[in-house]
Amino acid sequence: MSVLNGKKILLGVSGGIAAYKTASLVRLFIKAGAHVQVIMTPASKDFVTPLTLSTLSKNPVHSSFFNQDDEDAVWNNHVDLALWADLMLIAPATSNTLSKMTTGNSDNLLVATYLSAKCPVYFAPAMDLDMYKHPSVLSSFTALKSFGNIMIPAESGELASGLSGEGRMAEPENIIAFLEADLESKLPLKGKKILITAGPTYEAIDPVRFIGNHSSGKMGFDLANEAANLGAQVILVAGPTHYKAKNGLVEVINVVSAQDMYDVCHEYFNNVDVAIAAAAVADYRPKVVASQKIKKAADEFSIELEKTKDILASLGAIKKNQFLIGFALETENEIENAKLKIQKKNLDLIVLNSLQDEGAGFKKETNKVTFIDQDFKIEPMELKSKESVAVDILNKVVLHFAKS
Ligand code: CTP
Repeated sequence: MSVLNGKKILLGVSGGIAAYKTASLVRLFIKAGAHVQVIMTPASKDFVTPLTLSTLSKNPVHSSFFNQDDEDAVWNNHVDLALWADLMLIAPATSNTLSKMTTGNSDNLLVATYLSAKCPVYFAPAMDLDMYKHPSVLSSFTALKSFGNIMIPAESGELASGLSGEGRMAEPENIIAFLEADLESKLPLKGKKILITAGPTYEAIDPVRFIGNHSSGKMGFDLANEAANLGAQVILVAGPTHYKAKNGLVEVINVVSAQDMYDVCHEYFNNVDVAIAAAAVADYRPKVVASQKIKKAADEFSIELEKTKDILASLGAIKKNQFLIGFALETENEIENAKLKIQKKNLDLIVLNSLQDEGAGFKKETNKVTFIDQDFKIEPMELKSKESVAVDILNKVVLHFAKS
């Protein structure tokens, strides 16, 4: 999945012949799963029509401060547009637009929006070879880079003037590749390996029966997706569940029993930076698993159970530098019990679910958690979707690496 998936992209098109290539560019953004809004300078409309770009972007194209054609003139709010964007790209960026960007000459919607943008801004220059080397243009590049904007260098080749040399706007495919590589390199968990457990475990009684629980696995899958979105390499060890990883980069290892989960976790743990135990592992399993289906005979029937291995505690016992996060599901003395689990299982952070909180627990879309860290700092969170809880948990991981 492209790192551009779900990103809100503001494409600023200025007036150069390369503007015709923005049709392909918008199409590639949409194909990558991005949301696109386009701002055109008045001059760019001579090279590509707003209708083309609005059709491809599935959004109206903005080009003036207000829409003259509307009966009640509607103001195009450049501040809102700028704040909407996760990323702004000016392509093609002509020498005129680049110069206005450096001096703050906001006589068109594109430059006014640029000046309001807080998101990363990229620009892909396009001009003739001598213009591309002119000191005034070079000083625009230097100024814009000093503002933190990122240049996508022009390519060499045949130019509209008939001359050949450096100055062609980078090809749309190359612009996409540049953006993807740049965004990926800046993901906060890039280079980190994360092991996550999810779902229930099934403990066999006989070939057709098992002891299980109602865990859906959603929390663990949301964590895995979010961790992968943040650039981590994710190994998700999942008990029986119908969930699939939305992010195709998550490596899912399906297991059935607590022992299977234990074995897989221990295979990977030494090589990971973070482990998050979100699985609802069975605490007990039948001591003997019948090799044939148990027939009903006596009126009463009991199964002798034995403890399963505590996976999280076993990882805590051998951990070196791994950041270890566990969950605790409690119904009473929540904080005290969770604190005891931090110590007993040697955790860095525990995510406490109280079944007394409405909206928390199994088979729910939402969760209400409290974070407790190693120093017993307690941080209660609001009731939110499990996706948002996953974001909060991974923010703790990002923060941990930012500090260390
Ligand atoms: N856990 C685990 N292996 C087990 C049991 C639990 O890895 N055999 C992990 C869970 O994934 C969770 C944490 O331990 O992150 C807490 O599990 P929980 O069931 O709340 O606590 P227990 O330690 O099992 O204690 P109790 O059931 O007595 O509360």
